[in-house]
Amino acid sequence: MKVDGKHFRSIWRERDGWSVGAIDQRRLPHEFVIARLTSCEDAAVAIRDMLVRGAPLIGATAAYGMALAMREDSSDAGLKRAYETLIVARPTAINLKWALDEMRATLAPIDPLERAEAAYARADEIVEQDVEINRGIAANGLQLIEAIAAKKPGETVNVLTHCNAGWLATVDWGTATAPIYLAHERGIKIHVWVDETRPRNQGASLTAWELGHHGVPHTVIPDNTGGHLMQHRMVDLAIVGTDRVAANGDVCNKIGTYLKALAAHDNGVPFYVALPSPTIDFAVNDGIKDIPIEQRSGVEVTDMTGRTADGRLETVRIVPEGSPVANYAFDVTPARLVTGLITERGVLKPDRASLAAAFPERIAAA
Ligand code: MRU
Repeated sequence: MKVDGKHFRSIWRERDGWSVGAIDQRRLPHEFVIARLTSCEDAAVAIRDMLVRGAPLIGATAAYGMALAMREDSSDAGLKRAYETLIVARPTAINLKWALDEMRATLAPIDPLERAEAAYARADEIVEQDVEINRGIAANGLQLIEAIAAKKPGETVNVLTHCNAGWLATVDWGTATAPIYLAHERGIKIHVWVDETRPRNQGASLTAWELGHHGVPHTVIPDNTGGHLMQHRMVDLAIVGTDRVAANGDVCNKIGTYLKALAAHDNGVPFYVALPSPTIDFAVNDGIKDIPIEQRSGVEVTDMTGRTADGRLETVRIVPEGSPVANYAFDVTPARLVTGLITERGVLKPDRASLAAAFPERIAAA
């Protein structure tokens, strides 16, 4: 998508052909800084420290991490080490494991001397596939937005989203934002309520930044506002992303998503989840019981960083010294609260039969 008139993706191969460029998302919205990843370890640290984040981008970064590893050591031991280094970088987004499994399946059977080239080629494919998938999600989600727009001619369609499931969280377009960008391009009047998404503020810092650069009308709201807006008919539909969808249709996403789904259910607001097929985990049958929920440092809760009026970045503590904090990064929304799953193969019911019918090849691989 465009940043100040220039087209960017969230990750790319640099001109040298082997190192990997990525936008350092920890610095947004204050600074637009590009990081260069030159080793498998760089890729693992970028994922762990959230220089890159968002399930599909985590997968893409891991794929390039494997390619970088193959330049260093393409032996069987090197392949195993790279897989083991990357798989532990973050626990919840299943796209990480999906991408690493894809890479290993390509690389393990071939001659170690051919692995580096094959790894870059496969990682490039994974990246391009992500963009294609998101275009599919855009087209399928657009129909939902168009249907709402048709019922209120001349009025604005109000979408609520949580966290950042935008182009920064994928390679391009985003998942939850893909239908929004397409609707905006097609001239539909659309406005996005952007949950700030404490504690890391992916909504306030990233989604708002993206939408602003693309000219999409939006309003940042404190996380607790959604229920009030829904009670007052100020939200037509909610669209969120996801880090892992269980075989039964349960949806894991950024902490706070579940509460939005409850509020949507109580107010009859459609609650959609946009996902690329690599986010489905057919090996997990019960999302609430079996999806591992990442717990991150309490510092993300106790401290906030922002830009002062004179342009300096400053971190301040907002919790009393000594108060314990908890920082669960994700929660699971049960399938019964989800209106539909927007995928590249259509809008599905959130249940095992629908997911299995749409993606039979993924069941076979699980
Ligand atoms: O902790 P993050 O920022 O990686 O969490 C991201 C999310 O929860 C996104 O909503 C999800 O990964 C979907 S991204 C298309």
